Amino acid sequence: MLVSTLNNTSQAELIRKQYDSITAGNEMKWDVIEPSEGKFNFTNADTIADFAQYSGMKLRGHTLLWHNQVPNWLFKGPDGQTGTAIRDLLIKRLKNHIETEVTHYKGKIYTWDVVNEVLSDKSAGLRGEDENSHWKSIIGDADGDGYDSDFIELAFKYAHEADPNALLAINDYNLESSTTKADAMYDLVKRLKAKGVPIDVIGMQMHISIAYPSVSQVKQAIEKFASLGVKVEVTELDMSIYSSPSEQEKKATDSILSDQAQKYKELFDLFKEESQKGNLISVTFWGSADNDTWLDNFPVKGRLDAPLLFDRELQPKPAYWAIVNSNKLKSHK
Ligand code: XIL
Repeated sequence: MLVSTLNNTSQAELIRKQYDSITAGNEMKWDVIEPSEGKFNFTNADTIADFAQYSGMKLRGHTLLWHNQVPNWLFKGPDGQTGTAIRDLLIKRLKNHIETEVTHYKGKIYTWDVVNEVLSDKSAGLRGEDENSHWKSIIGDADGDGYDSDFIELAFKYAHEADPNALLAINDYNLESSTTKADAMYDLVKRLKAKGVPIDVIGMQMHISIAYPSVSQVKQAIEKFASLGVKVEVTELDMSIYSSPSEQEKKATDSILSDQAQKYKELFDLFKEESQKGNLISVTFWGSADNDTWLDNFPVKGRLDAPLLFDRELQPKPAYWAIVNSNKLKSHK
């Protein structure tokens, strides 16, 4: 959720009543937490952490290393304004950022999304310059083992040192709809675990739609990841009523809402099964109700969506009743 969500008392009440965990939507990202080098601002994130604490809710941390929502100075030279950071400088900044943020919330966060969206959408490797990320090209193969995943390994090391009890996650999207991406995640985590990198969780964002992927694809992905000996968390669940960016805005009719309810029911039946098998440890929605979804502006700005369990008036939708009537797995926001 966003810190502004708390200004709406009915929304805050809904969150406390219906969910047992929260995640900051934007407030724990690098541009908010460390807007200028070495100057940390935890004000908004602390408000969310305090809300979680006095409401008796758990807190998920999102996110320490990403290529989006980062401040301009991060990849610049030593003055933070000109030139480009060299490897040692970027590593120093990464270490200081992670140490400071994870230490600040030590003991309060059960899982950190340590790295976010580091897999390429184009190949089996890691996201690089051609996909707007400078991490791999600047840090490169700093330890000379022939792999360019050093920035990821360092991020996990620093997070683990700062809070050894927090679970640490690698988080990404389309892991249930793209086998290339799921395979890339599997291979990466397998190699990193063999190297002793402290990865506990694969985070599946799960921004899906009513039309795709199938629930059996989701099952395959969860079980593939769990076979590595890590746990899975669903980290940003929402189910768009659209199946492509070119679709015009439409009303969420009864028929659409009933299809959505059916898909949510099947999905949560699967989640319950996977949680009983010990594979899945949490499910987080990206937003608390349809008046509070990033999908109103993504992938099409201003096209209203209806992806969550509560409508714009905060009333439970058919999807909500389908889930609560069919199983008792508690969900998170
Ligand atoms: C989104 C936020 O919800 C928006 O408010 C912001 O404008 C962009 O980022 N994957 C992630 C999240 O890991 O951090 C993104 O959150 C949604 C996609």
